[in-house]
This record gives sequence, C-alpha cells and structure tokens, in this order.
Amino acid sequence: MNAAETRTPHTRTASYEAEPSEVGRVLLLYSGGLDTSVMLKWIQDEYEAEVVALTINLGQPGEDYDVVKGKAIQLGAVAAEVVDAREEFATGYVVPAIKANAIYGLGYPLFTALGRPLIAKLAVEYARKHNCDTIAHGCTGKGNDQVRIEATVATLAPELKVIAPVRGWAMGRDEEIEYARKHNIPIKTHPTQGVETPPYSIDDNLWGRSSEGRWIEDIHRAPEDDVFQLVTRPEDAPDEPEVVEVEFERGVPVALNGERLGIVELLERAAEIGCRHGVGIVDHVEDRIVGLKVRDIYEVPAAAILLPAHAELERLVGTIHQNQFKPRIDQQWAYLVYAGLWWEPLRTDLDAYIEAVNAQVTGTIGLKLFKGHVRPVTRRSPNAVYDALLATFESGGALFHQQASPGFIELWSLQSRLAHRLRERSEG
Ligand code: ARG
Repeated sequence: MNAAETRTPHTRTASYEAEPSEVGRVLLLYSGGLDTSVMLKWIQDEYEAEVVALTINLGQPGEDYDVVKGKAIQLGAVAAEVVDAREEFATGYVVPAIKANAIYGLGYPLFTALGRPLIAKLAVEYARKHNCDTIAHGCTGKGNDQVRIEATVATLAPELKVIAPVRGWAMGRDEEIEYARKHNIPIKTHPTQGVETPPYSIDDNLWGRSSEGRWIEDIHRAPEDDVFQLVTRPEDAPDEPEVVEVEFERGVPVALNGERLGIVELLERAAEIGCRHGVGIVDHVEDRIVGLKVRDIYEVPAAAILLPAHAELERLVGTIHQNQFKPRIDQQWAYLVYAGLWWEPLRTDLDAYIEAVNAQVTGTIGLKLFKGHVRPVTRRSPNAVYDALLATFESGGALFHQQASPGFIELWSLQSRLAHRLRERSEG
C-alpha cells in the first residue's frame, strides 16, 4: 500500500475540521480496537502530531482498561487517560431516558445515542486539560455517531478542531490489518470470530449493546446465534418464569426485589436478570439521521425490564390527559437524542415537563420474565390514580353516580350523532 492510498483528502467542508498544518496535539477517543489503534499511529505519522489517548468506561462488559491504556502508550501516545464515567452516564443520561420512556423507532433504547454526547463532552474536557488543539474519533462517514460527537464538540468547544481519519482514509478492513501488522500494532482476536472473519461492528455500554455488519446487513436473513454475546437465546432460557420487582422514586429506579441499589449496580443487576431470561433482543431496521436505513441487532436486557416498568407506573399515576400527551413529548425527546442534538435547548425544555410528570412516579412494578418475554403483573403506588378512583366507587361513591352516565353519554356523543345524521342525509 503506498502512502497516497492512506492519505486523507483534506477538503474541509466545515469550519471545525482541522487544517493539517493546525494539528499539533490530538486528543484521540481511543477504544483499543483496530480502527482507533491504527489511528493512534497514523495520526502521529500523517500530521507529525502528538496524541493523547482517552478511553471512557461507560460499562462496556469485559473490557480490561489497563490493557487498553498500556497499548496506547506502546503505540506512542504521550499520555493515556481512562475515565470511569459509569455513574455520570447512568445518572445524567440513562435516568433521563428512563423518565422519557425513550425508544427510537420500534425498539431502540438509544444507549449509543446517549453515550456519545457524554463521550464527546469528556473529550472536550481532556483536550483542554492536555492542551490539545484537535479531537479525533473513529466514526465512519455513514453513521449517526459522527453527528453526535462533532455536534457536541462544535457546541461545547468552538475553539477545538476535529479530525475523523476513518471517514477520509482509503483503507478498508484488510488494509487496516496490513497497516497494523506493518507497524506492530497488536490486533485483538475475537474470542469466537477470530481475526480472519470480519467481526460485527459492536458498540456497548450499561444500557445495551448493538451489532452491525456482516449478514446483519442482509435483511432477508434471520439472526445467526453467534451475534448474541450477552443475552441467552430465549429457547435456552429457564423453563420457570421469574418475577422481578422494580421500585421507583420520582421516576428513578432505586431498588430491585426490595434491595436498594446504586444506579450503576441496579442497571447491571437488571441486565443480568434480563440476560438469564433471554429478554431484550431487538432486530431493528432503523432510519439513520444521515439518510440511510440500517439494520441493527440490539441486546438491551436492562432496558427491556426497566422501560416497561417505568411506563407502567407512569400510566398508573397519570390522568388520561397526561397519559395521552406524554408519549408525544417522549417521542420528540428520543428523536432529538437519536439525532445528535443532546445540547438543543428544546431537550431541556422537554426535560422540565418530563420531570414534572415524574415527580409522581413513585411505587413498585412487578414484571414476569419468561423465555424472552416481559410482562407487568403487579402494581403498587401511593400516587396511583387507580386506587383513588376505586375507593370513590366502592364507598358508594360521592363522586361517581352510575345514574349520571346516560346524561354524560347523551352529551358526549352529541357532535358525532349530529354529523353522522347529516352525512346519511346527504348520501341519500
Ligand atoms: N444504530 C445505532 C445508533 O445510531 C447504533 C450505532 C452503533 N454504533 C457503532 N459505532 N457501532 O445509535
């Protein structure tokens, strides 16, 4: 491979993209995988720049951060930082998503979309700390993640520039492997897939995991089992159902089966239970912001338990009018987050309403898990409008007279009846 093949065509289309001559010290968002490892070396060569590696722990299972850090230093990083951001992610991003019942499309709980603004915010913080002029990330030019990261950097740090080498270089996976071999970059072999098979493109954190690529792109094909690295196949899940009780205070999950837990541990525990019962597998064809449709296989065991529990409790404490209105707010919230506009003021405006509703969302929901299915089976809340109505009704009802119903029905149906009659007449 000659140098020209790997060179980025430096045509800037946005003001925040770096001119090569401006790049002196780069903060690289470093996962330790193939793309960002090749980038770590390539940036030093291409720009004659120093690289500071930043790795962020959002609860991706099975990651050894000492190894990742050691690899960054070995590849020439002048500094390598690892930040445990699980608590901030859970509190500041996942909890608001739970309060917003956040789902995009027909089942994507937005774990990646929620993680990116936090990752980019931390990149800005660490770029400033290390006097970097540029932030580099490993997103391609075809996905949503570039939008989320660059929109965040451009919003929070107008003084910083961005480079996205994968978007520009002409290397495919094979050329990257060749580059890695030539420059002694260690390549992780996947435990089951090996290095010869191109692996799925995976992104994961506390709130879920996505797989893309290979056969997944062929929407005619049903999922192959090797994609499920987290959740038990529903067929193999226990033959006995399990009921799990989730307690909420003001919209925040605080306990599982009566045991109070910190939010990170609660999310991890919920995921464990969900994995065991095969819940949270989502096979999703999705409208990306950048115009494409893409198919993702999601494994979202914690979300599959906590989102329905929250929604069930919220509906119990809300009036019919609140319950009809909230999903519209939730949908707008989810779309903004999906579309990379975490910092958009409308999101904060919506949060104010969402908070107001969630002030009542206190209580406990029991869910039955069985071979891939989750179903609310018990509900308890001091704010349940249900209980208040029942009491009114049972006590002989100062507030509910059955004899009043016919009068209500006559007025309630008035306009519909009149319109119906007019139409019948005009149709002869
Ligand atoms: N389709 C999802 C989204 O746009 C998941 C993206 C996963 N990202 C990745 N780099 N594999 O949020």
